[in-house]
Amino acid sequence: MRSLVISIFLYACESWTRTADTQRRIQPMEMRRLRKFLGITYRDHISNEEVRNRTRQAIGPHEDLLTTVKRRKLKWYGHITRSSGLVKAILLGTVQGGT
Ligand SMILES: *[C@@H]1O[C@H](CO)[C@@H](O)[C@H](O)[C@H]1NC(C)=O
Repeated sequence: MRSLVISIFLYACESWTRTADTQRRIQPMEMRRLRKFLGITYRDHISNEEVRNRTRQAIGPHEDLLTTVKRRKLKWYGHITRSSGLVKAILLGTVQGGT
């Protein structure tokens, strides 16, 4: 289930061109997800760092979502830029034309 959600999410964000944009969208979403998982609300006044610490204690070291997205984006760009011809022109044109 988690991987399905992530796949759909990554499909959407592969067209996000700017890293800052990606970061701005992903990090709050991930923190909300972690807080929900830990049963913490914003009213508890617990810092993001503490939330991450507690998550690490609960499930061990894990890759954060932003790192996953960056890695997947690089892989996708690598794949596209190595391909040739019309597909590349269309896809890169789409990317540049996006936000
Ligand atoms: C989170 O963990 C790090 C490393 O264990 C520690 O240095 C830091 O003080 C912790 N932060 C909080 C807010 O507890």
